[in-house]
Amino acid sequence: MKKFKSSSERKTRRIGRFIAKKLRKGDIVCLNGPLGAGKTLLTKAIAGYFGINENIIKSPTYTYLRLYTAYNGIKIYHYDLYRIEVLDDYMKDQINEYFSLKDTISLIEWPQKIMEIIPQKIINIEIELLNAKKRYIKIHGL
Ligand SMILES: Nc1ncnc2c1ncn2[C@@H]1O[C@H](COP(=O)(O)OP(=O)(O)OP(=O)(O)O)[C@@H](O)[C@H]1O
Ligand SMILES: [Mg+2]
Repeated sequence: MKKFKSSSERKTRRIGRFIAKKLRKGDIVCLNGPLGAGKTLLTKAIAGYFGINENIIKSPTYTYLRLYTAYNGIKIYHYDLYRIEVLDDYMKDQINEYFSLKDTISLIEWPQKIMEIIPQKIINIEIELLNAKKRYIKIHGL
């Protein structure tokens, strides 16, 4: 486990790049933390490291998933499951299929919504909000 303290958006971005450097195809990253913790910001920093223009990264509003293709064939699947209330079988099958894709890195906001299908071997990130600027960021399994 690694634990960082972030006192700025800039520091959180740096932590995002630190995470990104260690990611490999097939990895599943769960981003845990309350509203406004910085899950999407970490997603932007990670996607940015893989050459994706982070300005196009925003939380999926009408869908729970957005896909981005990076320069070296890696695909980033960004989930925001905040609005998911019921996980139906169709969605379960769909997501399980995405998880098995070999060229894909999955970044998941609000993973607890699909806890029952999250694989065992994941990278788990927990963001604790201390105040408007300060965060603790714990990383397991990287
Ligand atoms: N140290 C910090 N790390 C990350 N974000 C910070 C920090 N300090 C301030 N912020 C601000 O907190 C906000 C984090 O927003 P972000 O959308 O990344 O959160 P989120 O966890 O994705 O929230 P949501 O659950 O609503 O999707 C941004 O506006 C960012 O500028
Ligand atoms: Mg978000």
